Amino acid sequence: MSKKVYIETYGCQMNIADTEIVISILKNNGFQSTDIMEEADLILVNTCSVRENAEQRIRGRLQVFNTIKTNKPEILIGIIGCMAERLKKQLLEEEKMLDIIVGPDAYRSLPKLIKKAGTGQKAVNVILSNEETYADINPIRLRKNKISAFISIMRGCENMCTYCIVPYTRGVERSRNPQTIVNEASNLFKEGYKEIILIGQNVDSYNWVDNKKLNFAKLLKLVAEISPKLRIRFSTSHPKDMTDEVLYAMAEYNNICKNIHLPVQSGSTNVLNKMNRGYTREWYLDRVSAIKKIVPECSISTDIMVGFCDETEKDQLETLSLMKEVEYDLSFMFKYSVRPKTYAARKFEDNVPEEIKAKRLSEVVLLQNKLSKESKEKDIGKTFEVLIEGISKKSDDEFFGRNSQNKVVVFPMKNFKIGDYVNAKVEKCTSATLIGKIV
Ligand code: SAH
Ligand code: SF4
Ligand code: F3S
Repeated sequence: MSKKVYIETYGCQMNIADTEIVISILKNNGFQSTDIMEEADLILVNTCSVRENAEQRIRGRLQVFNTIKTNKPEILIGIIGCMAERLKKQLLEEEKMLDIIVGPDAYRSLPKLIKKAGTGQKAVNVILSNEETYADINPIRLRKNKISAFISIMRGCENMCTYCIVPYTRGVERSRNPQTIVNEASNLFKEGYKEIILIGQNVDSYNWVDNKKLNFAKLLKLVAEISPKLRIRFSTSHPKDMTDEVLYAMAEYNNICKNIHLPVQSGSTNVLNKMNRGYTREWYLDRVSAIKKIVPECSISTDIMVGFCDETEKDQLETLSLMKEVEYDLSFMFKYSVRPKTYAARKFEDNVPEEIKAKRLSEVVLLQNKLSKESKEKDIGKTFEVLIEGISKKSDDEFFGRNSQNKVVVFPMKNFKIGDYVNAKVEKCTSATLIGKIV
């Protein structure tokens, strides 16, 4: 009888994609995945270290797994992903219930490590690699939505933003063979998928070199050529590397979605320098102008971090003014949290008091709510092509889907089905959703 694995995933899209690779590796080694943790023989937690509270949440979750292990001592429990890489063997001392620790580049060794753990020994592999891209592994798609799928096009990050743990947990940047990306996307389209999301920490620095060089703009075009009925999205773009060539590719292909996630972090050049982001406020705003000129209908989303070391009230005002200038459609907003071993943790003082961080966060959140609402109100009266993704949570007679700009649209069903493209005219909106009808 095959063994059962239950897996929980935290963190970014990279981790969601990695979980699908892990399940594929385990299925090839006699495992079956289950959604019921009590019936599992193996529990894996794919973890995130990006902020302290992300780790704390996972630590809390481990207590639940500990209770399960008390009732069923033969169950194996493993930590994989970024926390495994950051804390390594230290985790075994801190969390006695753990049997297995595996970092993001070592998933191929999981079957061997599980066998070892089965004999009562602790099993660890946190070796980072310069080459691993899992290009040959066919991910088992776990997302409920069978319409859109992530494809990881690169791994690692070498940007060394001073606050960030990712370069330490994910290792050096490496791009995946483009042919394997195109094959994976084509196969998904044949299976009925309608949307591919190309992911990496910094997709703009995608660079494949063999006989000739292939950059991100060229990769985008290759994937877009598969079919005009296959939507392409991508994330994350780094402002220092986003080229006009990428923007022209977006303008040229209707099926490359008109949305860019362009994390700014701060509107102050002083703070950006201290963060080692590699661009100034003016550079960022120039990139935004280029987007607005070359791809006028493009929506722009961002990440903002408040309360970084030495951040002043004047810096905060610059962040707020930049947000207004760009008119972001969506932002993910965070308070700075010290990550041990990073440059900022070693060299700078975390000197913005917690209550000031909280105040600044609420200011950016408040402003973003206003901008998000305005961005949606501007869409009233417009007609968008929407890919139907599922039945609306609020009503069984309504579908939801997204337009090219990545905004959610809800509308009455008519005779359509999930996976169809429809034209929907927006009649009203809430702060999060456009509401319309099929035309
Ligand atoms: N590669 C992406 C970001 C990945 S991490 C990029 O460079 O844009 C996602 C977001 O988490 C970051 O954009 C940043 O806003 C936030 N973040 C990263 N490290 C953080 C830290 N130490 N404290 C708080 N937020 C952090
Ligand atoms: Fe972290 Fe910077 Fe790399 Fe993004 S680009 S993952 S913020 S080091
Ligand atoms: Fe978290 Fe690792 Fe992603 S730290 S944000 S899961 S790369």
